[in-house]
Amino acid sequence: MSAKRVLLIVGGGIAAYKALELTRLLRKAEIAVTPILTAAGARFVTPMALAALAESAVRSDLFSLEDEAAMGHIELSRSADLVVVAPATADLMAKAAAGLADDLASTALLATDKRVLMAPAMNVRMWLHPATKRNLAALEADGVAIVGPGEGAMACGEHGPGRMAEPEEILAAVQAALAGEDRPLQGRHVLITAGPTAEPLDPVRVLTNRSSGKQGYAIAGACAALGARVTLVSGPTALAAPPGVERRSVETAQEMLAACRTALPADVAICVAAVSDWRPDTVFGVKLKKGKEGPPAVRLVENPDILATLASAGAERPRLVVGFAAETGDLEANARAKLIRKGCDWIVGNDVSEGAVMGGDDNAVLVIDGAGAECWPKASKTEIARRLAAKVAETLA
Ligand code: C5P
Repeated sequence: MSAKRVLLIVGGGIAAYKALELTRLLRKAEIAVTPILTAAGARFVTPMALAALAESAVRSDLFSLEDEAAMGHIELSRSADLVVVAPATADLMAKAAAGLADDLASTALLATDKRVLMAPAMNVRMWLHPATKRNLAALEADGVAIVGPGEGAMACGEHGPGRMAEPEEILAAVQAALAGEDRPLQGRHVLITAGPTAEPLDPVRVLTNRSSGKQGYAIAGACAALGARVTLVSGPTALAAPPGVERRSVETAQEMLAACRTALPADVAICVAAVSDWRPDTVFGVKLKKGKEGPPAVRLVENPDILATLASAGAERPRLVVGFAAETGDLEANARAKLIRKGCDWIVGNDVSEGAVMGGDDNAVLVIDGAGAECWPKASKTEIARRLAAKVAETLA
């Protein structure tokens, strides 16, 4: 039985140190690794470290007479079962999207006939730049699989999306790709909102709700498991982002809408968040204090409707827009009315009158689309998520 082999391209970013750990994990999983180190990558990790962990010589130079004699770069690009780029820098992604081939890494990416998996890693501004978004969309359209990036503190001192996925997550994506798993959402970008919003009144008080985020997070995980690139715009929750999902943490409805807009274009938008319908009209800069005047009168103003906004986003409208409706009576009629009012394609209605749905682990839903209604009986939120992700994949196919 021949072992699987990965051609691992290590780009030049601080996350390159994690490529060493990835190499170790791949070898531990008995996956052979042929490393290519870019010139910029060699500024962050040494060829010696990479070669030792990969148990293989490192290639860096497109014009090395010695390396080319041993194995030409075209053959090299096809010698593995999968090409993995980690870290995939903004520069490497731009080159691959444009089809440039001015060094060994970019040439291998252009010449390969194998599947490519990229783990982007870059500064948050670079990740959110329209140029990178264009390149990402082009790469996805070319069938490149993307894992991560995650959100968090970055080596450059900023905070946000752009952190390379953890080596364990990349390993899981590599194993799934090598197993030839059916990943029907591969190349699709799914935008999901989840959790509550928190609308500040003053520096310590917020208007919020009891949404746990569980259903939205489960849907994010289920879509990622089917190969989608998932952006999860989440209000404050106690949950960890599912593997391979890019989470953007927000607090208010206005921030949630802005983060959704930034995440476009997307093929699918699934709005699961329990967005606060209103927010305090005035946000006080200092903590409100008890006084002789009695309690303050709080005036509320309406928040933007994120679902309706995404559903009417013109050219940027995702092909499939899905909303949720928590109802306490006449579920079908109310959900159907909501479908029309919000301009979305499906509404997933759940009856919250029993009280166990919010924060609970189970859900029972009615899925309404233009054609009719499907009743999905009580099941775990994970199972409902799997069914919904499968229905999304079927619809986009
Ligand atoms: O109007 P209602 O809150 O019942 O609608 C629920 C659906 O609308 C959910 O999909 C929810 O995520 C979305 N929604 C939204 N923005 C709002 C209010 C609701 O995206 N401001």
